[in-house]
Amino acid sequence: MTTTTDSTTVQGAVGSSRTRVEGRDKVTGAARYAGEIPFAELAHGWLVLSTVARGRIRSVEDAPVRSMPGVLTVLHHGNAPRIDTDYTGMLGRPNPVVGLFQHDRVPFVGWPVALVVAETSEQAREAAEALVVRYDEEPHDVEFLAGHAGAYTPDGSDAETEKGDLEARLRAAAFVVDEEYSTPEEHHNSMEPHAATARWEGGRLDVVDSNQGTFWVSSELASLFSLDPGSVRVRSEHVGGGFGSKGLAPHQVAAVMATTLLHRPVRVVLTRRQMFSLVGYRSPTAQRITLGAGPDGRLSAFDHRALSLTSTVHEFIESSANVGRTMYDADAHHTRHQVVRLDVPTPTWMRAPGEAPGSFAVESALDELAERSGIDPVELRARNEPAAGPVSGLPFSRRNLRACLEEGARRFGWAERDPRPGLRREGRWLLGTGMAAASFPAGVGPSTAAVTAEPDGTYTVRINAADIGTGARTAMASVAADALRTDPERIRVRLGDSDLGPAWIAGGSMGTRSWAWAVRLAADELRELLALGGSVPPEGLTTRADTSDAIGAMAQKERHSYGAQFAEAAVDVTTGEVRVRRLLGIFAAGTVVNPLTARSQLVGGMTWGISMALHEEAVRDRASGGYVNADLAGYHVAAHADVPHVEADWVDDHDPEDPVGIKGIGEIGIVGVAAAIANAVWHATGVRHRRLPIRPDRVLAAEEARPGAEGASGA
Ligand code: MOS
Repeated sequence: MTTTTDSTTVQGAVGSSRTRVEGRDKVTGAARYAGEIPFAELAHGWLVLSTVARGRIRSVEDAPVRSMPGVLTVLHHGNAPRIDTDYTGMLGRPNPVVGLFQHDRVPFVGWPVALVVAETSEQAREAAEALVVRYDEEPHDVEFLAGHAGAYTPDGSDAETEKGDLEARLRAAAFVVDEEYSTPEEHHNSMEPHAATARWEGGRLDVVDSNQGTFWVSSELASLFSLDPGSVRVRSEHVGGGFGSKGLAPHQVAAVMATTLLHRPVRVVLTRRQMFSLVGYRSPTAQRITLGAGPDGRLSAFDHRALSLTSTVHEFIESSANVGRTMYDADAHHTRHQVVRLDVPTPTWMRAPGEAPGSFAVESALDELAERSGIDPVELRARNEPAAGPVSGLPFSRRNLRACLEEGARRFGWAERDPRPGLRREGRWLLGTGMAAASFPAGVGPSTAAVTAEPDGTYTVRINAADIGTGARTAMASVAADALRTDPERIRVRLGDSDLGPAWIAGGSMGTRSWAWAVRLAADELRELLALGGSVPPEGLTTRADTSDAIGAMAQKERHSYGAQFAEAAVDVTTGEVRVRRLLGIFAAGTVVNPLTARSQLVGGMTWGISMALHEEAVRDRASGGYVNADLAGYHVAAHADVPHVEADWVDDHDPEDPVGIKGIGEIGIVGVAAAIANAVWHATGVRHRRLPIRPDRVLAAEEARPGAEGASGA
């Protein structure tokens, strides 16, 4: 199949701003989300979660609850049907938390121990809260610490990379930075909570859900319940955010279990509080960065050691040390992941997994090197641009970081910056600016698509994409329109239904690229058929594409999106308040399909970066092992008043090997932002904050610890 890249140079639908095709439905409330779709005879399930961090369930005293109003059943490890968790799915082994009610062990606070099903959601909740569960408690450890005695290097080639003699290079270095950085536990907190309704319909299991990939969830459910994959259908039409948390989780499994037993539709919705322990989160990290550089600032030694946590039942690694494997080279280069098992829920992918916390450490350390060497932070990064993958040795497909740095510096007015810290004051505020570089892998996964020419001159695109709020429908219409040389208005897009066949998930910044590739191939073929005089029969003329072979044949290369983040911060050292005044991100992220929604995506990621720098932090109580702040009152997510004017833009870039030139923009927006802000706080105050979030009490404590600290220093 030949492909063209003319859509990147000819102004078509791709590259033009278009409002979301379902936007009107969303703002008028006509769009229905998974927890809102009505079903006749609907029953409601409510999960009961453990209150101890480690032990065994001694008893579930369900008899009194069964006679409460409306209660239909109570499921727990003593009566639940057996399911099969011994399989390997699309993204690996299932998280044991989806193996609902299969044994009496409790590995963390918030582990599902029962499901109460009732006629109404209120009755289910009332009964669930009344259910008495007794435990044999065991001592637990939930404390994440650098240097934890239980830390180990996980198996697998990804854990550690090493070249050169680190000690020798550090001894010979003109400048050395050796510091520890830490980031707290952070949660996805998608606006729409997880919700699923399951029912049996015509011999098939039909699940209406909110997820990042219906084919993914349907295949996992088929494996768990030992069903023929064709007999499971999962639909997910509108999704209010996912950020990595919306795959298979206990709510779908609970709904399927209950509907199978009760022979009526069952809905299970998670509360905000339940989401904290059931759908994953970003592990806290403790990272150590050691850099050695020559007088010109070129790195001769690079060492990144990152520790994260996982549960006792499943291993998940927050791959913070990955970022240095492709961003910065040095003669001596070492990266290592370690993990410690604690009595806590299993973390998972969360927007820019690895890169978000990893870039905080690396890009903060680079700023410290800039300070020590007297080299401008932008220039320092430009001088350290590698010619090939530092660890892989592979060529870069297209590395446009330098263009991002130059354009960002120009737009931000970086040239006028006085590098000395603590010099600028405006009333009670100390002002500073900081920057960071960013990258995120540009991946692609196999997908299938079908495009139909309808007899009325319109087209239907069938692609099992997940529109998790990103505008996937709108993007796919633009991609198909250009291939078909028509207007996006003439194209309808069907997505979010596992019956559409396999397609990549909305994850890893790979969704748009993976789906567009398949849509483009199918649409190109249809256009060629029609150009040859193919007539459109009454049922329409359909072409199909499967990108598996094309993707499998791609040459090995380093493929990434890039960015440069610039921040201005104001710090009141008498109250500890930090305000971000300006944020600018310039990205090289491939062809931008829809500038309107792409900008929203990037600004959303950058906003999350502000939140990560200053606010977000899940706190665990050592005594109980549970959360102190599992709600949006105690876990502060940046609100409107926290967010200044955020500007996101991009330089010309396209992936030469992608039919549409796409790289992916889902995650790069958050990468580097926390470091840029921390670097700006240093520039404002002269104090380094190596621990996130930069809370007022930490700013005050740092100020008090500073010798002779009063007002601006360094003048
Ligand atoms: Mo994203 S963390 O790959 O959903």
